[in-house]
Order: sequence, then structure tokens, then C-alpha cells
Amino acid sequence: MDIEKEMSDRAERIEKIIRSFLPEENEQNYYDNTVRLAMNYSVLAGGKRLRPMLMEASFLLFGGQGEAVWPFMAAMEMIHTYSLVHDDLPAMDNDEYRRGKKTTHAVYGEAMGILAGDGLLNYAYETVAKAISDAACGQPDGGQVSHMARAFAVLSTYAGIDGMVGGQVVDVESENLDPSEMTEEKLAFIYEKKTGALIQASLMIGAILAGADDTSVEQMREAGSLLGRAFQIQDDILDMTSSLEVLGKPIGSDERNHKVTYVTLWGMEHAVDEVKRLSQEAVRLLDGFSGDSTFLRELFCYLIHRER
Ligand code: IPE
Ligand code: IPE
Ligand code: MG
Ligand code: MG
Ligand code: MG
Repeated sequence: MDIEKEMSDRAERIEKIIRSFLPEENEQNYYDNTVRLAMNYSVLAGGKRLRPMLMEASFLLFGGQGEAVWPFMAAMEMIHTYSLVHDDLPAMDNDEYRRGKKTTHAVYGEAMGILAGDGLLNYAYETVAKAISDAACGQPDGGQVSHMARAFAVLSTYAGIDGMVGGQVVDVESENLDPSEMTEEKLAFIYEKKTGALIQASLMIGAILAGADDTSVEQMREAGSLLGRAFQIQDDILDMTSSLEVLGKPIGSDERNHKVTYVTLWGMEHAVDEVKRLSQEAVRLLDGFSGDSTFLRELFCYLIHRER
């Protein structure tokens, strides 16, 4: 499989799905058009669409069919994008570029950056709630509706204080920490939550919507945890070795914000090895499934050497 071609084909298709769920923008119809423009600007600025891609691949691995996963794919990308918009704000990482473009707050102002993030988070929930409500009306006997409700619970939990938000809290509070004060457990907690949580939720939601059993969902959670930690360590590596042109966001952000990262703590060589070890462990967890996991395996391996 040409994984890069496959990823770009899938991202193009996913882009259309996401677009179909975004809010309408129109100066004539809306006093609040600015926030709609800012929301759509940040989502449509680009991005790898990794989380919806993982969600769809997990859905297909467990035999999922149809469009039930679509609103969840769009909602996940909205939540991920809001986390980036807020992460880039002056009060947080204070970054000027994202996805190769000026950050949302740099274009629309700080207040609108905050509100666009709020808008995206809420629109994600509106999108999923509407899909569940529509499914419940057409199918009052449960079935897919109960899977969707369970997936909604995972989405909201992993985005919140027990997930991404919690990880960002500890990340921010750990700025300026003397490296000797950072523990392995605490750094693992930050990575597992700030980055791992949405990756875990994506893999779990795909499985849940396809009707996978609890053991399989748990295995996808574990694979997501390993992959998420690997993904964040690679993000830290690229923050030191890449460029704005390749990455689409400024390098050196971690140093500027006095972050203790896996690389600063244990060195580049060890960080590179750890990305590989964690990713390969995640691939091994896919072995137990009878469905075709070729794409997911190749995607997990591709991410070890990703350059953006
Ligand atoms: C960036 O995520 C934030 C991290 C969790 C490291 P991605 O690298 O997936 O960003 P996009 O979506 O491709 O822009
Ligand atoms: C952020 O980690 C993870 C989020 C929840 C947004 P980083 O701060 O390292 O992400 P980038 O490097 O800005 O994308
Ligand atoms: Mg950050
Ligand atoms: Mg950042
Ligand atoms: Mg980073």
C-alpha cells in the first residue's frame, strides 16, 4: 500500500464530510457571522485529519457500514481544532501560525479566537446530538441509537477534564518547572491526556459505532493511548528539528514556553526510540482482530517517521 497516497485520498474525502457539517456563513443573514467565519477558517485551514481518519478506519475494521460515523468524525475534528485554536492563544502557547496559516486569534483577534473555540466545541456537541435525535426518531427501537449515545459519552469525557482539557491544565502548570521536578509519571499523564485522549476516543468511537464488543473497544483504547503518547513525543521532536514551512506551525514553541518535554528530559535519541517502541506496541494490539487492519497498521507505522 502507498500509505501517503492512501492517506491523502482519505483526507480529501474526510474534508468533504467535515465541510458538510460546518456552520453556514453569510453576512446578510447573521449578526454573528464573524464567529462563523473564524470557526470555518480554523477548521478548513488544513490539517492531516488524523483523528477522523482513525475513527473511520476503526469503524471499518469492525464491520461498520453507512454514514453513522460521519457526524462523529466531523465533531472530533471540530473539538481537535478548538483545542488548537485555544492552545495557540497568547495566554497559552502564544503561536502565530497553525496549519500553514495565521492562527485564528492573529486573524480575527483574541476575543474572537476564544469565542470561535467555544463555538467549535459546542457545535461538535450540537452536531452529534442532532444526529442521535434524528436516528432516534427514525428508529425508536434502540439499535444504532444506543451505540451513538455511548459514543457521545466517550467523545465528551475524553475531550474534558478527564481527557484533553485535564492534560492541557497540567501542561500549562508545568511550564517553568525545573526538569528535576518533572517525573516520568507526570509527563506520561500530560501526553496521555492532552494528545492521547482524542486519539483514544477516535479509535474507540469507531469501534463502538460499528457494534464492537467491550473487549475490542478496550483494546482500541489501549492502542490509542500508546499511539497518542508516541504522537506527542514525535510532535516534541519536530518542534526542535523541523521548520515552519514543513510543519505549518512555528518550531521552538516548547523552548520559548519553557516546557519540559520528553526530548529535553531524556534526549533526542531516547525520544526517537520511544516513538518507535510505543507505536510498534500499538500495532501489536491490532493483531488480535479478525477484520482487515492493514491500513491502521501502516498508518501507525507511518506516524513513527512523520515529518509534519
Ligand atoms: C497537533 O495535532 C496537536 C497535537 C496534539 C500534537 P496534529 O499534528 O494532528 O495537527 P493537525 O490536525 O494535522 O493540524
Ligand atoms: C497541544 O500540544 C495538544 C493540544 C491539546 C492542543 P502542543 O502545544 O505541543 O501542540 P502544538 O505543537 O501547538 O500543535
Ligand atoms: Mg500546548
Ligand atoms: Mg502548542
Ligand atoms: Mg508541540
